[in-house]
Amino acid sequence: MKKQSINLRQSFAIAFFILTSYCSSITAQEIIPVKTKSNALVLRVNKGKELSTIYLGEKLANDSDYAKIQGQFRQGTDYSGIYNAAYTASGSKNLLEPAITVTHADGNTSLDLLYVSHKTNTISAGVSQTEITLKDPVYPVEVHLFIQAYFDTDVIEQWTTIQHNEKGSITLNKYASANLYLKGYNSFWLNQYHGDWAKEMQPEETKITHGIKTLDTKLGSRTNLFLPSVFMISLDKPATEDEGKVLFAGLEWSGNFRTDLELDPLNNLRIISGINNAAAAYKLAKNEVFTTPKFWYTLSSKGKGNASRNLHDWSRNYKILDGKGDRLTLLNNWEATYFSFDEEKLKVLIADSKKLGVDMFLLDDGWFGNTYPRNNDDAALGDWDVNKKKLPNGIGTLVKTAKDNQVKFGIWIEPEMVSPASDLYKKHPEWVVKQQGRSEHYFRNQLVLDLANPKVQDFVYGVVDNLFTENPELAYIKWDCNAVIYNAYSNYLKDKQNNFYTDYVNGLYKVLERIRVKYPTVPMMLCSGGGGRVDYGALKYFTEFWPSDNTDPLERVYMQYEYSYFYPALTIAAHVTDWGKQSIKYRTDVAMMGRLGFDIVVKELNEKDLAFTQQAIKNYNVLSNTIWQGDQYRLQNPWGNDAASVMFVNKNGNEGVVFTYSVNSRYEAGTHLPIKLKGLQAGQNYKVEEINVYPDKKPVVETAVYSGDFLMQVGINPNVTASNSSVVLKITKA
Ligand code: GLA
Repeated sequence: MKKQSINLRQSFAIAFFILTSYCSSITAQEIIPVKTKSNALVLRVNKGKELSTIYLGEKLANDSDYAKIQGQFRQGTDYSGIYNAAYTASGSKNLLEPAITVTHADGNTSLDLLYVSHKTNTISAGVSQTEITLKDPVYPVEVHLFIQAYFDTDVIEQWTTIQHNEKGSITLNKYASANLYLKGYNSFWLNQYHGDWAKEMQPEETKITHGIKTLDTKLGSRTNLFLPSVFMISLDKPATEDEGKVLFAGLEWSGNFRTDLELDPLNNLRIISGINNAAAAYKLAKNEVFTTPKFWYTLSSKGKGNASRNLHDWSRNYKILDGKGDRLTLLNNWEATYFSFDEEKLKVLIADSKKLGVDMFLLDDGWFGNTYPRNNDDAALGDWDVNKKKLPNGIGTLVKTAKDNQVKFGIWIEPEMVSPASDLYKKHPEWVVKQQGRSEHYFRNQLVLDLANPKVQDFVYGVVDNLFTENPELAYIKWDCNAVIYNAYSNYLKDKQNNFYTDYVNGLYKVLERIRVKYPTVPMMLCSGGGGRVDYGALKYFTEFWPSDNTDPLERVYMQYEYSYFYPALTIAAHVTDWGKQSIKYRTDVAMMGRLGFDIVVKELNEKDLAFTQQAIKNYNVLSNTIWQGDQYRLQNPWGNDAASVMFVNKNGNEGVVFTYSVNSRYEAGTHLPIKLKGLQAGQNYKVEEINVYPDKKPVVETAVYSGDFLMQVGINPNVTASNSSVVLKITKA
């Protein structure tokens, strides 16, 4: 009994000691919380001035609780500020994957970054920016961490600026944009994407194991060809559409990127993302400021659907050029003619655009080049003068024909590229990216121009500027990019070759910036032989992108479904073409879940197909605002189901549209059960009506009024089968 009471006294004393020492360490620390509507990212400065990430998750009710988050101990060693450093430097005490690695002017390779100060400013309503200054105590190197929080949409962007005041240049061997730390979850599940030409956006989900998983590209241009920078991380268990914690993220950069996902020895996930440092150790001159691209992310505790709707709102409000504006429906001539056309043929297609009822005719590849006419994909890139044989009266006459037909006119260009068979290549070999003394290696028979060179930037800007100067009524540009960069060498950069991949992209952005100063809103499609290039760095200048050259609608159901997690429908160009053997209805219904366009020979449509298409375009015009600006709900996934179903509901909740597509043509495959709708008001009544019904066919869904409660709890069967392969339902508040 006596022994016991001594033990009790001892334990009280120990408890008191722990408590007081813990409290004193709390007061010595500075907490930096960055909050959005649902989440908080919390950084802490410890006594040693190290800055670490202590929390990234759902916001706590009391701010004071963040200070109570404990450090990271293992076997008596305190890893706080090391594994979870907010921007991990290398060459000192960190031995895990760094965010930044430098070689100083004197050749030393160590770096330590300690907290100096921070400030938070309001950028605009609901947008705050926290800037944290870090400095090396030994070398005059300074890093500023920027954390921009978009309160309502739960999106955060992070980036850094790096500068120094050393005697000579320093080398940035690695220079990430962001260094996140996810702590306290049982497991992490990566949903990444891979692909190739015509096979873009193939998802793969795996549990993250210890060590490093790297998502990267080194293609230079057209960089997403094999792997885009966007990904998802589910926390604890794979998230579903409506349940689970999931982080969506991506880099706003149209060049080489690298994201390292490192499950550390403490079972926490370090995410380090930025420009790929492969062959890109950047020489930074004294007092030059290097700005890393933005890394965006959004965390949802209500599944993937909520994450994607937040992201869509954020991107339309803050990122995409004209994100709140309208888009143009169009008829493109690429698959209708390929390179083989003349003025007469195009005039017929322009008239067909009107007949179809679209807003615009888009003239694709093949309109330029005289010494080397562009009659195939092996010549003329770089020679942007109109081909006199095909178009003796120039582009102007086509623009006028379009105007006479009350449609707009758009044009294709690929201004970053050069064909070896071109006047430009002969005149300016020094503008071409290629290794001196090595044989040239081509991708689609072409090479890339050196956008690190300001003269090349002027030339590329001039391609666009001249087109608009000569044709002020030009309404749209399709900007293509069909080659990767082989044999990377810039004649202009001389002994700074390692800056090339970065300077190339910054050169491209300079050109796009100039274009946007003079032509702020003209719609431009970002094309890259398919989805080789889309990211939120580029969408600042572009209004939409081309997801894939593969327009087989069955393939597009899958691809557009996956793209839609990251990009809203108004950016996803979807054209009805002759790829695939499906009916015109199926092809059109699939294209309607994006920015609708056509690339078909209108005169080859039979009467009913034409009538169907004309009516579908009218229906699209009625619903387009809901599709472009509304909330998107994914009702049924194409993977593993007989049909895929997606829904859009407009922001005031009085109109919606449900697209359901068969993805399995086997015997008896179809929607045998009702599909539950989402995003409606339970107490409200809605009229459900089938639209895009093929001429002379009866609707497969009867028009009726249901309560929102019924539609969301019980659902409605769109009756999709192998023969009714797609059904479109319009939902209107009754
Ligand atoms: C790329 C594009 C196509 C078309 C051709 C023209 O492949 O993705 O849509 O414009 O170039 O050459």
